[in-house]
Amino acid sequence: MRKINIFDTTLRDGEQSAGVNLNFSEKIEIARQLEKLGVDIIEAGFPAASKGDFESVHEIARLVRNSSVTGLARSVQKDMDAAWEALKHGAEPRLHIFLATSPIHREFKLRQTKEQVVETAVSAVKYAVSRFPIVQWSAEDACRTELDFLAHIVEQVIQAGARVINIPDTVGYITPNEYGAIFKYLQENVPSIHKVQLSAHCHDDLGMAIANSLAAVDAGVTQIEGTINGIGERAGNAALEEVAVALHTRADHFGAQTGLVLKEIKRTSSLVSKLTGMTIPPNKAVVGRNAFAHESGIHQDGVLKEKTTYEIISPELVGVSTNSMVLGKHSGRHAFKERLKELELSVGDEEANKLFGIFKSLADKKKEMTDDDLVALVLEETLSQGQNFYQLDSIQVQYGTNQIPTATVTLKGAENESIQEAATGAGSIEALYNTLERCVEGTVNLLDYRIQSVGAGRDALAQVFVKMKYEGKETSGRGLAQDVLEASAKAYLNAVNRVVYMNEKTAVLNA
Ligand code: KIV
Ligand code: ZN
Repeated sequence: MRKINIFDTTLRDGEQSAGVNLNFSEKIEIARQLEKLGVDIIEAGFPAASKGDFESVHEIARLVRNSSVTGLARSVQKDMDAAWEALKHGAEPRLHIFLATSPIHREFKLRQTKEQVVETAVSAVKYAVSRFPIVQWSAEDACRTELDFLAHIVEQVIQAGARVINIPDTVGYITPNEYGAIFKYLQENVPSIHKVQLSAHCHDDLGMAIANSLAAVDAGVTQIEGTINGIGERAGNAALEEVAVALHTRADHFGAQTGLVLKEIKRTSSLVSKLTGMTIPPNKAVVGRNAFAHESGIHQDGVLKEKTTYEIISPELVGVSTNSMVLGKHSGRHAFKERLKELELSVGDEEANKLFGIFKSLADKKKEMTDDDLVALVLEETLSQGQNFYQLDSIQVQYGTNQIPTATVTLKGAENESIQEAATGAGSIEALYNTLERCVEGTVNLLDYRIQSVGAGRDALAQVFVKMKYEGKETSGRGLAQDVLEASAKAYLNAVNRVVYMNEKTAVLNA
């Protein structure tokens, strides 16, 4: 079996998805989970892009020991210097530099001739290898580049010291056969090609990112780049979980495997979806809610007789639990902690006790707590820690047809003082949010509101995601609760608390 390295760019290309804006602790949380998933390389960000990106890449490189951490840089010294400062303490510092090679980009974006592009690329790689033990070079828009020029520049950057050559389909334009043919061409026409690893990076504009990535594996590529859930620029990148499961399931065809811990897939996917606010379509391959749901009678009958009649991937393989009723309101602390352990949700004793309290009050209202509920609960709690400036005490909302919806809210403020307000609105959520706006002393513009159920059944937990502007700053928040109104209030406060937290942090830094 050939080993295919997995290069995860959820925190860089994935974070470039419209509407996604991860904060420092969310990025760290995702990076730790990617390490657990066993990705070979984590592209943690673009250190020269902003102070925030620099800090998160720096921290991820410091914390992550079992994956190589990389950062993106343009072919300019200032970007490479910033990347070195961010990555130098990493377990295996690696630089990812890129330069566009296609005629369209050369003419309209770079305004450089072919010769100038080669010169820029070579001098950037030479500078990069003087610092980094491993340098990956990407030919941006490679798939719309003249093949002979692509082969020429690739040979030059290999001679300059690049160890990995990435051929991105930047605009999601190529077809699987054509993509495979590009790699074959490079293998036959670049004299030094045997010295490097070849990498594929596909975008999904024409819905071919996975097919193209797999065609690249067929053509001998040993590194695949992509993101969890396929998030990314425009239509997104290749979904890594799909690539890994396809290679596993069709090992007979590909003769290649990744090193991913497949049973961490579901957890990783849920975390990324939760933190980015990008919901997973129910029919999405591998991680969609319906990916293992057999609906038709004929299929159900077949599966009951023999699973493999209609099931080519077992849910357990990717960490999807088929165990629905696990814990309920009669379960004790011990059973609760044991279940957390079985689900490999590592929380300390004190935290487990706190979570048990929350679990008990939820279990009181909810018939059964599934594994999905527990994972959601733990994620929610760990993520909201340290950011609770405003805490929800109680809400009361009155709604009736032909009546004006009215909400009353009691919060605890930063000094534990009680804040109470009431307001009306055109609907229950508006009444609630108008009331909360009075409580938090600042103008709030709601930009997006989404609701999703976690777990199955009528008593599934509600998860709300909001995006808003608070005191002129864009922020987002999540809330999880049995009731949609409570989840909505929590999401609102989570978003506000993030701004308060950031304001405090900035004030301390500037003091
Ligand atoms: O799609 C692309 O070309 C990229 C490069 C920066 C590698 O993301
Ligand atoms: Zn990309």
